[in-house]
Amino acid sequence: MEDLSTVDASLMKQEVLEGLTKPQKQLPSKYFYDERGSDLFEQITRLDEYYLTDCEKEILQSNISEISDRIGSDVMLIELGSGSSYKTRYLLEELLDLSTYIPVDISEEFLLKTVNQLRMEYPKISIIPVFADYTSSFALPVSGNQHQKQIVFFPGSTIGNFNPSESRAFLQNIAEITADDSEMLIGVDLKKDTDVLEAAYNDQQGITAQFNKNMLRHINHVLDADFEVEKFDHNAFYNEEAGRIEMHLVSSQKQTVNVSDQEIAFAEGESIHTENSYKYSLEEFEELVGDWYSVEKVWTDEKDYFSLQYLKKK
Ligand code: TRP
Repeated sequence: MEDLSTVDASLMKQEVLEGLTKPQKQLPSKYFYDERGSDLFEQITRLDEYYLTDCEKEILQSNISEISDRIGSDVMLIELGSGSSYKTRYLLEELLDLSTYIPVDISEEFLLKTVNQLRMEYPKISIIPVFADYTSSFALPVSGNQHQKQIVFFPGSTIGNFNPSESRAFLQNIAEITADDSEMLIGVDLKKDTDVLEAAYNDQQGITAQFNKNMLRHINHVLDADFEVEKFDHNAFYNEEAGRIEMHLVSSQKQTVNVSDQEIAFAEGESIHTENSYKYSLEEFEELVGDWYSVEKVWTDEKDYFSLQYLKKK
């Protein structure tokens, strides 16, 4: 199978071996995403149990005129992460006075495809892709128009996949590279009933399980490793104390796996931690962003499962 993102095999080897030799084995969540992983993730967003996507959509649709009013006219919209989604098109269509759209993504191939398509659909918007890892410093294009306000769009509760200290580093980085009057429209998943949270990451069809296990196939493929995928089980649960969903792959038996030139031993029941998804209360989130941003407005869905928040740089 072709990789969507051109993975750096030597970096992958280093990161995978580093993670698998820790006392609590772990793997970086970015390795979920080869072509099959991206496709499975797309399927996750359409699952009944996975409320996040529908809630965010509902919030955008129900409040679009108020959101557009806040965003204002002649703006530079900077989207962090995937630029092909429904949400982006919806915003581009509704924000009639958007002059510049800047999708930021780490996958060059993916971004170019999307940009070519969007340029045809929205000829009046100037679309400037930026290939960058937005968790590190990167340069934004300089606007010809000094009055153009920068709005960062970060949907999907992707911030929840960072731990609190990574989140703070991310917020500080974005605050540093944007103008003083910049604002942010960010999707944040909220704390709620554990059953609802756990169902979202343990769907009946087992798509999330396949997605989780796909990381092992991806590693097998790139690093010539010999994970026997069927000897690992998907386990996702809410860790109340940490306020996060954790995803693990649990070894169903004692086994050893070869990864490049190393042998990795697993005890029966030993897990690899693959992902976190932090859930916030409104107060916790306000506190998290507080050094850099003030929360100007919070919109939620009918059930108060999810929030879309409008932040202003302090
Ligand atoms: N940020 C979303 C979430 O935490 C999407 C996501 C990222 C996700 N990695 C995932 C969803 C792994 C399911 C499994 O839910």
